[in-house]
Amino acid sequence: MKVSVKTPATIANLGAGFDSLGLAIPIYNIVSVEETVLPGSGIEINIINEKNNNENDFRDIPVDKNNIVYKAIELLYNFLGQTPNELKITIKTQIPISRGLGSSSSVIVGGLIAANELLGHPADEKVLMSVATEIEGHPDNITPAFVGGVTVSSWEEDGSVIYRKLPWNDEWKLMVCVPDFELNTEISRSVLPKEVPMKDAVYNLKRTAMFIDALYTKDEELLKLALKDKLHQPYREKLIPGLSDIMNNLKHINGVIGTVLCGAGPSVLVVYNGIGASEIKESVTNTWNYFNVKANFMNLPIEKQGAMKIV
Ligand code: HSE
Repeated sequence: MKVSVKTPATIANLGAGFDSLGLAIPIYNIVSVEETVLPGSGIEINIINEKNNNENDFRDIPVDKNNIVYKAIELLYNFLGQTPNELKITIKTQIPISRGLGSSSSVIVGGLIAANELLGHPADEKVLMSVATEIEGHPDNITPAFVGGVTVSSWEEDGSVIYRKLPWNDEWKLMVCVPDFELNTEISRSVLPKEVPMKDAVYNLKRTAMFIDALYTKDEELLKLALKDKLHQPYREKLIPGLSDIMNNLKHINGVIGTVLCGAGPSVLVVYNGIGASEIKESVTNTWNYFNVKANFMNLPIEKQGAMKIV
């Protein structure tokens, strides 16, 4: 038996909601898991690059038991008192790697749902989310990959993940600007301070609360305020050439509601009201050109559906 699961890319943080908010976008990785028929064939892992992603991006991804999809599946089996012996895992990737778009969350979630199906559904969503977050570390990516849409989530001390899905005003569009360089999440977290000034924590706290109200009331002016951040982006600016210029320049473009870093970066998300797409692209292209960075642009809606089984 073979089970394939298609899981969307995600954008975490969304400005003020560091490690809490996230949303899904319609680009996908597909993970297939099958029990191999021949005993003794062990674990086989194949990665197929489906979207002309740079082949070099894949060079460091292990295809043995150190692969994160395998590790997640192994943790699930162990949780159920079992050990995976003969498994073939195929990972088809469309989501750019190390660009802040949740490519690892997507394959972890896909692998776990597929393996759970192979095992006959022993684990519920709560268990799968908690196993996925233990491997990946960021519920703000795992949750929207799992359930789609916009989410607020919390990884609790007992390992469980609590989340709520939030509404989205479909008049608000997303322009995802993906630069041609990678940024490793660990490096991007290493520049964050261990402690932050109380006034910065309060700055984000009220904006995260207002983000949620802005979504429920479709209040564009409130969303403008809510997309600002002082807890992570200011520290990460030095890792992303041109980021502060991009953010400053886009403030003057009609239609732009806010500009935030996608997760740990380096991609940039522009939330806008449908006006100004070409000005946004032009402005970001010009700024990054100055820093010798090339970019891809994806003009996307929110993906409302999360990981789904495909045939
Ligand atoms: N919230 C996490 C971060 C997301 O910003 O580091 C990592 O993908």
